[in-house]
Amino acid sequence: MRLTILGGGGFRVPLVYGALLRDHGEGRITEVRLYDVEPRRLTAVARVLADRAAGVADAPAVTVTTDLDEALRGTDFVFSAIRVGGLAGRADDERVALAEGVLGQETVGAGGIAYGLRTVPVAREIARRVAALAPGAWVINFTNPAGLVTEAMAEVLGGRVIGICDSPVGLGRRVARVLGLDPASARPDYVGLNHLGWLRGLYVAGRDELPRLFADPALLGSFEEGRLFGAEWLTTLGAVPNEYLHYYYFNRETVHAYRTAERTRGAFLREQQAAFYAESGAREELPPGAAGAAWHRTLAEREATYMAANRDAAGMGEREEADLESGGYEKVALALMRAIAHDERATLILNVRNRGTLPELDAEAVVEVVCAVDANGATPLAADPLPAHAVGLVTAVKAVERQVLRAASSGERADAVAAFALHPLVDSVAVARRLVDGYVAAHPGLGYLRG
Ligand code: G6P
Ligand code: MN
Repeated sequence: MRLTILGGGGFRVPLVYGALLRDHGEGRITEVRLYDVEPRRLTAVARVLADRAAGVADAPAVTVTTDLDEALRGTDFVFSAIRVGGLAGRADDERVALAEGVLGQETVGAGGIAYGLRTVPVAREIARRVAALAPGAWVINFTNPAGLVTEAMAEVLGGRVIGICDSPVGLGRRVARVLGLDPASARPDYVGLNHLGWLRGLYVAGRDELPRLFADPALLGSFEEGRLFGAEWLTTLGAVPNEYLHYYYFNRETVHAYRTAERTRGAFLREQQAAFYAESGAREELPPGAAGAAWHRTLAEREATYMAANRDAAGMGEREEADLESGGYEKVALALMRAIAHDERATLILNVRNRGTLPELDAEAVVEVVCAVDANGATPLAADPLPAHAVGLVTAVKAVERQVLRAASSGERADAVAAFALHPLVDSVAVARRLVDGYVAAHPGLGYLRG
């Protein structure tokens, strides 16, 4: 069984490979093919993988390539985790938005729209190459903005592309932990779009345990989302929002935190990651273990500083120890692959086409909901209706995503302006117009916008 990773020189690839190394079961992945546009990134990551594989007898073989067609031909699974424009592009997304006083986060608000506008054309082209060269393959999309990019790829691949994100998993795990439940046997009621969803229930043996959390304000304020939003706001909502909703519910505060931070997240990562790739992708030989050690060190710092501006805005200090260990990202990916490959039924929160799950959205709209997975792919499970406030946000943001998809097809500037202008976190059409100008000037990848 072969897995192709697009963005194979990406920093999280060793997490995925680590999960594969722990899988000794029948039908497991035996070959990993890494594709990237930058050879040095491939060199660095291949070295980390080799360090991680040391001493594992049945470690999956690793090959690298900068040829997309070669990467895809005849493969069984594709993980797509690309970053069009790199981290420099992410930092520019933030900078241009902040200059207009709006949020430039990579997935939320103006930044997410800019990132989507330059990623969608690339994602569509990849989907077409997959359809031509590996028509039986399943594509697992991690590329952000994950819901939008999955929807773009689904135009070509239908149900063969499934989007994943680890933030709902992390949320479910934290809530289970404070309630003293085993996260593996607790079944979440989670619904929304990617980075725009709410945990409304947590079921164990058919019983909803979430009311226990809401009955205890001290418990409610004791974990990441509780401290971020405050117990009082969670009580008002009657649900626990995804951490990315902090950018909506506390927009003014998060924009302020981004503006006053020494560096934005993108700018910090641009420098941090450049140092890692320079060291680990160096031309000269490295001593065994050196790349692996540099990667671990860099990962620990990246995890510890995740959403630091939001935590500053909420005045909540450091992340909890248990939240620092990764696990979500690669575990969902592996669980999804195994369920499909072995026809082992699993229940996972995934980005798939709506098909009637949320009646406010059409059948093709990609939503992030609880799904049943087996050899036929992922099918959304029936969900209770969204409350009115959530309908408002979900339908508004989906309309924005549709504008992004339209702009990427038409190349019309007016379509791009509409995407920004219709976003709930962009407060003026005039701002939207200036954002388009700023992003087109900053990103060569947006040269296709005309008019
Ligand atoms: C979470 C989000 C992902 C995001 C990741 C890394 O897991 O769900 O979408 O890519 O964090 O964030 P960072 O700021 O470290 O790039
Ligand atoms: Mn995510």
